[in-house]
Amino acid sequence: MQTRIYKVDPEKPSDDVIEECIEILKRGGLVVFPTETVYGLGAYTFNPKAVLKIFEVKRRPPTNPLIVHISELEQLNEIVAEIPDVVFELAEKFWPGPLTLVLKKNPKVPDVVTAKLDTVAVRMPAHPVALKLARIPIVAPSANIAGKPSPTTAEHVIKDLYGKVDAIIDAGETPYGVESTIIDLTKKPPVLIRPGALPVEKIGEILGSIKIQTKTPFYQHYTPNTSLLVIETEDYSNFEEYARKFESVVRDLAKDKNVAIIVSKELAEKISVNAKVILLGSRKDMYELCRNLFKSLRRLDELNVDLGVIEGFEEKGLGLTLMDRIRNASNFKILKV
Ligand code: TXA
Ligand code: MG
Repeated sequence: MQTRIYKVDPEKPSDDVIEECIEILKRGGLVVFPTETVYGLGAYTFNPKAVLKIFEVKRRPPTNPLIVHISELEQLNEIVAEIPDVVFELAEKFWPGPLTLVLKKNPKVPDVVTAKLDTVAVRMPAHPVALKLARIPIVAPSANIAGKPSPTTAEHVIKDLYGKVDAIIDAGETPYGVESTIIDLTKKPPVLIRPGALPVEKIGEILGSIKIQTKTPFYQHYTPNTSLLVIETEDYSNFEEYARKFESVVRDLAKDKNVAIIVSKELAEKISVNAKVILLGSRKDMYELCRNLFKSLRRLDELNVDLGVIEGFEEKGLGLTLMDRIRNASNFKILKV
């Protein structure tokens, strides 16, 4: 298949490109587009054949449901069966933005979208390209082959999906670089299914209590091919001590292995080890750390080392999201120091 690539200005995408891509979607084609979180692999929600193609192209198990992207609250009526009042409160505060809500499904939504569940996940993305395209409801998982990290640049998408989709809209690097936060509102109390780009504490201000239950059967994780170890500690406030322990573990491992470390610049500055260094960003900027994680994990596999060792972070705010992705990437190979 021929894949068209459209380069657009992320702030002011060309209307012609948007219209052309909406036409492709309406005809049953697949369009990869940027969102504020990661790139999405989109199909028109009400075309089950097109939605099925997403599963084929991504090699995603059909038991793993998709998120519907909308651009206006009114569209919720054709996606969900009922709209609890709290949805309007959340939408007022966080939409458009990286928050996905699981609600009772409208029977009109094809079963292939929701893997036959009676619930549906929906969000209003903040990226201008995604928001304009979502004039028609679009289902979109992250635009990676299953088992790869979510793509944060069009280059990642091209590596995974070129020749398998009708179009790719390239608007440069996605701002958050980590997926949306998913809350299941059909449960009482609401359940956090996936920590993401919107810190759960902020949602808690509206919802009150939220149950954290991120081990759902569908939530699939990425692990790099290279074995990865996370070094965690109880209390990161004594950073000097953490750095000393991290250094000593890596020195030991590097005696008989080729090691790469994935670390903040603060940690890199404090230690001296015989290892390749992948910088995640500054500990003072959780957004930067999250944004660089998937890219860094792709990089780790390119370095051809025996082992990756990654820094741990406090599970507060976006730190919860970061540690969720890190621990899963490590396949829960965690060393507590
Ligand atoms: O930021 C994002 O959410 C990106 C962009 C493209 O919007 N999308 C994304 O989609 O990450 P995906 O398919 O890679 O992850 C969606 C997650 C899956 O783990 C899926 O199991 C869960 O949402 N999900 C979807 N519908 C659900 C439902 N009805 N109940 C529970 N979980 C659901
Ligand atoms: Mg995904």
